[in-house]
This record gives sequence, C-alpha cells and structure tokens, in this order.
Amino acid sequence: MKLVVTGGAGFIGSNFIRHVLAAHADDSIVNLDKLTYAGNLKNLADVTDSPRYRFVHGDVCDAKMVRDVLRGADAVVNFAAESHVDRSLVEPDAFLRTDVFGVFTLLEAVRELSIPRLVHISTDEVYGSLATGSARESDPLRPSNPYSASKAGGDLLALAYWQTHRVPVVVTRSSNNFGPFQYPEKVIPLFITNALDDQPLPLYGDGRNVRDWLYVVDNCTALDLVLRKGKDGEVYNIGGGHEVENIVLTRDILRLTGKPETLIRPVKDRPGHDRRYSVDSKKVRQLGWTPKHPFGKALETTVAWFREHEAWWRPLKSGELKAWYRQQYENR
Ligand SMILES: NC(=O)c1ccc[n+]([C@@H]2O[C@H](COP(=O)([O-])OP(=O)(O)OC[C@H]3O[C@@H](n4cnc5c(N)ncnc54)[C@H](O)[C@@H]3O)[C@@H](O)[C@H]2O)c1
Repeated sequence: MKLVVTGGAGFIGSNFIRHVLAAHADDSIVNLDKLTYAGNLKNLADVTDSPRYRFVHGDVCDAKMVRDVLRGADAVVNFAAESHVDRSLVEPDAFLRTDVFGVFTLLEAVRELSIPRLVHISTDEVYGSLATGSARESDPLRPSNPYSASKAGGDLLALAYWQTHRVPVVVTRSSNNFGPFQYPEKVIPLFITNALDDQPLPLYGDGRNVRDWLYVVDNCTALDLVLRKGKDGEVYNIGGGHEVENIVLTRDILRLTGKPETLIRPVKDRPGHDRRYSVDSKKVRQLGWTPKHPFGKALETTVAWFREHEAWWRPLKSGELKAWYRQQYENR
C-alpha cells in the first residue's frame, strides 16, 4: 500500500509510521508535515534512511501541494493538527486553520484524485464531558473548548463528505494517548520530565478530572486495523479502558520516578476543563482489536523511555516550551 501520512512528525503520527513500516513490508509512506513546534524529525531518525519512507515539508492547508503529494496514493491518514487544549485557549486561529480548513483541503484532494481511503484522526474530546457512561459513535458531539470544537468541525466535515460526495472516509476518535516521543507539554511527559528535574507538577483544580489512557502503540494497531478493515463512512472509538483521576496519575508518576508528593503544585483550573471523557470501544473491538499493554506496565515503560532519552526532550523544554509555561503559570 502507498500511504500518505500527514502530521507524521508529531507524537502519534511518528509512532504510526514506525509501526506500519515494521508490520507491512510492502507498504511505503510519504510523511507530509509542516514541522510546527510539535513536529520533530528526530522522532523518525531510525526510519529516515528506509527506501520505503520519504519526508515532504508542507502544510495541509496548501491545496496545490497537497494534490501533488497525494497523487497516486492508496490511502491517506491524517494526523496533522494543532493538538494542545491549553494553547487553543490563547491562540485558537491556528486550530481552526489546520483542524478544520486543513481537513477540508485534504477531503477536496481525496475527492478529486479518487483516493480509495482517508482515515481522519479525531478525538474522544469531541463528545465533551460525560458524568457517567461511555460515548457511542452515534452520540451527539458537545465540544467545550476551541481545540475540541475545531476537531469536531473537521470530524463532521469528513463525515459530510462521505454523505454528500461518497468520499471514502473513516473517522477514529481515540482517548488520551501516552508513550515515547510525546511532546513534553502534555500532562504525562510534562509531569515525568518535571519530576526527573525535581520541578513542581502543576495540577489543575482539584485533580479529580478523569481521562481514559491509551498507550500509543495500542492506538497504532487500532488505526492500522481501521485503515485496512474499517468501513467507509464509519466512526470508530478507540479507548484504552483505563480511566483514572489526574491526581492518581500524578502520584503514579511520582512513585515511578522516585520523587516526593510535595512536588505536586495545585494550580487554578483552566476554563472549560472537561471533567471526564469516556468512550465505548465495542465497534473497533468487533473489528478485531484489543489493547495489549496494561496501563501500569505501559506507564512504567514510558517513564523509563523519558529517563533514557533526555537528549530528546531537554532541548524541547529549554526553549519555546519553557517560555510558554512561564507565561501560563507565573500568575497562578
Ligand atoms: N495525543 C492525544 O492524546 C490524542 C488523542 C486523540 C486524538 N489525537 C489526535 O491525533 C492527532 C495527532 O496527535 P499528536 O498528539 O500526535 O499531535 P502532535 O501535536 O504531537 O503532532 C501534530 C503534528 O501535526 C503537524 N502539523 C500541524 N499543523 C500542520 C499543518 N498545517 N500541515 C501539516 N502538518 C501539520 C505538526 O508539525 C506535528 O508533527 C491529532 O489530530 C490529535 O487531534 C491526539
């Protein structure tokens, strides 16, 4: 299969590229990425020289360039997005541009070039906060921040292109991912790297918000399955099946890094902070997927990875990210 992966230099995309190249000897991949602050070619250093892999620097909003790259592809998998909720509160423009208009540009190209499959990566956050139960794919979308609203826009547009033009899209809505190569602005790598440096762990509100954690390697096997076996026009939830309160997660990280709980620093909650996400993953499980990595073991592996890859994360934390966090937290 000739694949185009967009946003493949980010966290999940780079893990997905590595997974596909290892699992499918006949597949080749073109990775189209704008290399925003979150895109990092070091994430793919081990596959850069593969004859089955090629990188193209570009923006999914650039219609001409997207058409040139997509021509002849068997499938497109779209990871390209602005992905950090906190940033969407202060600079939402980029989110609307990439997470909505970028999806539109891809849909138009897939339609024009009659590409047989587009997997669009959405998120469980589009369902909004759930007090009880788990969201089914047919449930209404109730996003509550500019990130999830932009993602809902792209997600619904993709489904509308199936309804209107029969563009063969499949949408995935996965829960919070964690694992190697996650940019250290997201809670798990932020807390691990802060703890390793004996820095405070800024915990929002009362710490009781619940997320359903999914190890990125398990997500990649689900996405690969949906790419090959998913049905056109369908949505697939992908949940890790491990719901945990942030405070419990924080204590787990401190235990695994061997650091004291005095590092926990409660900070004012962010506006529109959804209390709980939860998805029902029956549909993707019926396709044949099961997560293979229990949460505790996967978190341990992730902590070990960050311990061993300081050269990867330290430069990311010392520049742009440091300035960003100083600006966000200095008044809390
Ligand atoms: N991380 C999670 O927990 C999670 C959970 C559910 C869904 N998702 C979705 O999965 C996808 C990937 O998430 P991630 O955590 O790997 O994100 P990430 O921020 O690590 O990576 C995003 C990638 O997209 C690229 N990109 C951004 N704008 C672009 C543009 N205009 N054109 C081309 N490339 C562009 C960036 O350079 C980066 O490489 C996103 O669509 C996100 O919404 C993430």
